[in-house]
Amino acid sequence: MALRIDGKRISQEIKDELKEEVASLKAAGKEICLAVIQVGNDPASTVYVGNKKKACEYIGIKSLSYELPESTSEDELLDIIKKLNEDDSVHGILVQLPLPAHMSEDKVIDAISPAKDVDGFHVQSVGALSIGKPGFVSCTPAGVIQLLKRSNIEIEGKECVVVGRSNIVGKPMSILLLRENGTVTVCHSRTRDLKEVCKRADILVVAIGKPKMIDASYVKEGATVIDVGIHRDENGKLCGDCDFASIEPVSGAITPVPGGVGPMTIAMLMYNCVEAGKNA
Ligand code: GUN
Repeated sequence: MALRIDGKRISQEIKDELKEEVASLKAAGKEICLAVIQVGNDPASTVYVGNKKKACEYIGIKSLSYELPESTSEDELLDIIKKLNEDDSVHGILVQLPLPAHMSEDKVIDAISPAKDVDGFHVQSVGALSIGKPGFVSCTPAGVIQLLKRSNIEIEGKECVVVGRSNIVGKPMSILLLRENGTVTVCHSRTRDLKEVCKRADILVVAIGKPKMIDASYVKEGATVIDVGIHRDENGKLCGDCDFASIEPVSGAITPVPGGVGPMTIAMLMYNCVEAGKNA
């Protein structure tokens, strides 16, 4: 029987550790503060932003909420970011993506001070990660590493296959696994013999954004399978990039959707906020 990696439990454990740390920082006179900016009212973004603010409240992090209309100009947004960069009482700045089409996401993200880039999306954060210097790490791949470590799944020396090469998940995921001394292969839409490459994996991380695309025929017996996807299937039920029912019997460990990687993203965002506060 495969181990079900319980992201809900592990994320709760991390949030409880952070809650204690935030309380002692508060007792020493430091209040951690995250600014959360949403432009427009994309319903999915509203849910994500709401969950981030709730997590802040639980842990004891102050959150400043900027709910800006869709019509906000890029310059107006850049001006708000500049003020938040200069405000010593603000430790983290999060701009929820996607932004409206009239804004350049790259320009907006790179306007955030790297010291406050708790999403880990700034070019400086990404560059630091790639050469092993300190900096913020993108929350979802950082959460995957925590899931593995806290489930006692060793990475060192293992064949790790990452399916997907996005800037937010696939690329940083591959670097983090490499940092943990895994042997890493990154696959994508042009990979030949995807199935054969996946079947080599001791640890298979799937972030391709296609519902239930990976089934048991891609998985080596006993492998650990981490599913980063989240979709609604034809019956309106949440599902991942992996076909859980097919894979579970052959895998050694697997993350469910929901309740696997999803809750870890916010836990790691909170972790990054606390680090930003401690560094300030
Ligand atoms: N949109 C979807 N996921 C994320 C995330 O992790 N951070 C931000 N800022 N926007 C997102």
